Amino acid sequence: MKVAVGILTALYRANGQFMAASEMQGLLGGPNSVLEAEITALHGLGYVIELHPHHGYRLLESPDRLMADDLEARLESFKAVGRTRVIGSEILVFEETASTNDVCEQLSQSGGRDGLVVFAESQTKGRGRHGRTWVSPRGKGLWFSVLLRPKLPLSSAPRITVAASVAVAHAIRKTSGSDARIKWPNDVTVNGRKLAGILTELCGGLGSSQAATSSDGAGGPAPSSITMVLGIGIDVNCRHEEFPPEVAAIATSLLLATGQAQNRPALAAAILRALDQWYRAALTEFDAVTDEWARLSTTLGKQIVVAVGARRVEGCAQALDGDGALLVRKDNGQVERMLGGDLVVER
Ligand code: BTN
Repeated sequence: MKVAVGILTALYRANGQFMAASEMQGLLGGPNSVLEAEITALHGLGYVIELHPHHGYRLLESPDRLMADDLEARLESFKAVGRTRVIGSEILVFEETASTNDVCEQLSQSGGRDGLVVFAESQTKGRGRHGRTWVSPRGKGLWFSVLLRPKLPLSSAPRITVAASVAVAHAIRKTSGSDARIKWPNDVTVNGRKLAGILTELCGGLGSSQAATSSDGAGGPAPSSITMVLGIGIDVNCRHEEFPPEVAAIATSLLLATGQAQNRPALAAAILRALDQWYRAALTEFDAVTDEWARLSTTLGKQIVVAVGARRVEGCAQALDGDGALLVRKDNGQVERMLGGDLVVER
């Protein structure tokens, strides 16, 4: 682990309390001059770290800037002993990119690991569902993608998007106190306005990390892994006038919803932590995910109209099935299994 990551991990673990200089020194090893030089470098990046002659070091402020070392330290500070994390196995941060989904997809072809995360401070060609543009201004939100190689049949891929929406809503609720909800298929809303969106894209071909012939120990073939990119966009500190006119009436940000600017790295780390938890659940105990989705859903039990291309499906949103598809009971009694579409009415 890099020295800077070690220092930040210790400071985040201390949670605003002092940490004895000797303890910090002991954790890192090496001469005092190395610790001092690293602390000076962290000050240069915008961290405010107090050194008290008796009590030691404490973190007073951290910059609202996405940095891989900082995110790694935050995740490390959450980590329970002996537990490996999948999400955030590697973290990359770009100042600007076309679309983080594209970067992730390219990295998937050169062996990128399950759980690799790519952030960008701004995107020049951010995209949303159905080929829509996703405006991603510098420093105003969280624009990132996660490369996943879940061992699931292709038909269960929607589970992952459901789990991601639960994770995003959970982390937002916990970090900001706002009443974040999930609007099917994968929007996170506050007070009926869209705060975040998720774009899941399958990468060409099945993942190669698991041969189709591998065994699951019970004698049967294990599912081969699929490779997918989960793209997440969250409007964190956008002001009303920063939304494009076509979404201004339906969009919101955490700043607008809570009246307070949010520290984006803290929120990013909380989301990655929640994603790790709900991704595991999606693979092993999907019922726990659907229960939580039901608790947070604005759609469940409602009369809905879904546009799927030129077709409209109308009925009652009944439940998610074991693959993550929405079951809609139509007025004629038939149940339609829906994997996507635009929810145009929810009442
Ligand atoms: C939606 O239409 O609601 C989904 C929006 C997804 C936007 C995110 S931002 C990070 C990632 N990169 C992209 O180009 N899109 C996703």
